[in-house]
Amino acid sequence: MGHGGSDADRFVVRPRGPLSGAVRAGGAKNSALKLMAACLLAEGRHVLAGVPRIADVEIMADVLRATGAAVSRLDPAPGAGEPGDLVVDVPATLHPEAPYELVEKMRASIVVLGPLLARCGRARVSMPGGDDFGHRPIDMHLSGLGAMGVTFDTVHGYVEGTVEGGGPLVGAHVVLEYPSHTVTDNLLMAAARSKGTTVIDNAAREPEVRDLADALRSMGATIRGAGTSTIEVEGAGELRPMRHRVVADRVVAATFLAAVGIAGGEVVVTDARVEHMDMLLRKLRDMGLEVEHGPGGLRAASTGRVRSVDVSTLPYPGVATDYKPFLVAMLTVADGVGIVTENLFSGRFRYVDELRRMGADIRTEGHHAVVRGVERLSGAPVRATDLRAGAALVLAGLAADGETVVADAHHVDRGYDDFAGKLRSLGADVRRA
Ligand code: EPU
Repeated sequence: MGHGGSDADRFVVRPRGPLSGAVRAGGAKNSALKLMAACLLAEGRHVLAGVPRIADVEIMADVLRATGAAVSRLDPAPGAGEPGDLVVDVPATLHPEAPYELVEKMRASIVVLGPLLARCGRARVSMPGGDDFGHRPIDMHLSGLGAMGVTFDTVHGYVEGTVEGGGPLVGAHVVLEYPSHTVTDNLLMAAARSKGTTVIDNAAREPEVRDLADALRSMGATIRGAGTSTIEVEGAGELRPMRHRVVADRVVAATFLAAVGIAGGEVVVTDARVEHMDMLLRKLRDMGLEVEHGPGGLRAASTGRVRSVDVSTLPYPGVATDYKPFLVAMLTVADGVGIVTENLFSGRFRYVDELRRMGADIRTEGHHAVVRGVERLSGAPVRATDLRAGAALVLAGLAADGETVVADAHHVDRGYDDFAGKLRSLGADVRRA
């Protein structure tokens, strides 16, 4: 899992000209984690294909194990170019608890709350703590599940939920104050195994929500409208185990496209789902990147310096907040001035200080950043402040003179399987040291 504190906890990056080659994005972290949680909804053996080999998946595996499930990885199929299937065996009786030690490592652990309540009639989940980017409360998870018949208490740092009358959950009409991704996931999973019909209004529309809905349908639930703002779920009392392939990771795919924007060259992301990246691809084209979808995958090419654009993050289908650090990294070396506005997480500009250490010209004011492109960055020791910021700093290093050392690389391992190796396969000079 993590490389916390060890020598390998750094990326060492040196510029080495344009990139070229083909690379796979792999399965989406933010789908795989929810699919793993969804396994808890049905007793039996679940098989998930395309689950990325990343640290967050290891943590979620431990969360499932804490409830009594067994999680193992099969050997990869020869020549498949992807990890082996993940097998989740879910017993008849679960221990409905997500302990502090795991939730503290990964706040996405909260997505077991819905499945555990639906399955066991009660659940105990450690309260996720503060986070690196802004205030991220869980009130909407609790009020949504509350509408389905759960009463919550907070005791000794744990949220304890009990379904009225010992269960089952009952369908409800829930209007989300904000189209939260994980809240939509949690409610979708709970609703799949509840009694009656649930309507989630102002639901998140992310492709990963749709992927989860597809999986839940294969388990026996009836779901309409996933991918739109109104999702209707007819719960099935009992569900059956799933066999499902995780949708491709659009954020990892975007990382490699941005790498081309920064280092130049031509790269094909073989498994990218273009239809999930529409708004981002428009932005990249506006910046002068050549992006086209062909039989081999999504191809991005760039010969000169990219142009600055303004960017504003929004819930899907807007430009995702997760893409923003890569776009900011591109803007640091782009021609012109770009204004970046963060509308989701208030504190998500911490990595800007690190980019400044590399010679970037960025001013931040509240949730805005003004990025004035410079000709060239200058390699420096910097620190990954979170997963996407860490990846963005590595990208910046591709266009920085001399050596860039990105410390706290373990943040990047949370969501990227062998990031350095994949960039090397495209001709970059990136190693772990
Ligand atoms: N919010 C509340 N109350 C809640 C839940 C959320 O106020 O009960 C607020 C948050 O404070 C935030 C906003 O809603 O301002 C958005 O949060 P959302 O719930 O949509 O984000 P999330 O579900 O916690 C997921 C991804 C993030 C990604 C965001 C936005 C997972 C595990 N995480 O987070 O991915 O940035 O959606 O698309 O799916 C990452 O991959 O590194 C990552 C952080």
